[in-house]
Amino acid sequence: MERGIERILVSEQEIAATVARLGREITAHYREAGGELLVVGLLRGSFVFMADLVRQIRLPLTVDFMIVSSYGTGTTSSGEVQLVMDCNQSIAGKDVLLVEDIVDTGRTLVKVLELLRLRGPRSLKVCSFLSKPSRRQVEVAIDFCGCTIPDEFACGYGLDYAGKYRNLPYVGVLEQT
Ligand code: PRP
Ligand code: MN
Ligand code: MG
Repeated sequence: MERGIERILVSEQEIAATVARLGREITAHYREAGGELLVVGLLRGSFVFMADLVRQIRLPLTVDFMIVSSYGTGTTSSGEVQLVMDCNQSIAGKDVLLVEDIVDTGRTLVKVLELLRLRGPRSLKVCSFLSKPSRRQVEVAIDFCGCTIPDEFACGYGLDYAGKYRNLPYVGVLEQT
């Protein structure tokens, strides 16, 4: 295991099975919807999951990205969500699926959902690989949820601590120092 990681929370095998399951759920849902599917990833955390997920969605789709940031270099959310880069595709009239690596307090998602809703999507849904319900401060619905995890600082599979560990192929718990 990588230095600084205490133990594995979601293994590579569990990740693969979870992404495959989410891909099936999403494919089944949007096959019926019949609209134009746009998958929007929130950078930077979602980039690994997003790449795996879209390959499990067996439907025509387009992708776009937004950069939002609230954590900076600490282990706790600053509570202030900054929109660093907006997506550049039009959202109006499309079936938009927002993709996150993790929903913690829920603030990031609520802020982005508020913003995107104003642009008149045909539908707006959320897929998050991880959820930490015990940390929620604002209510937010996760339409397609990968794994629920306890209140520990997770990193790997896109999730960082001070910018590091995003490349780990599993989700691990950061060692307490
Ligand atoms: C992390 C994570 C989610 C968000 C979840 O992003 O990737 O986007 O925080 O926290 P919340 O539910 O409390 O808002 P971060 O701000 O660390 O940026 P990053 O994706 O670039 O790591
Ligand atoms: Mn993020
Ligand atoms: Mg982060």
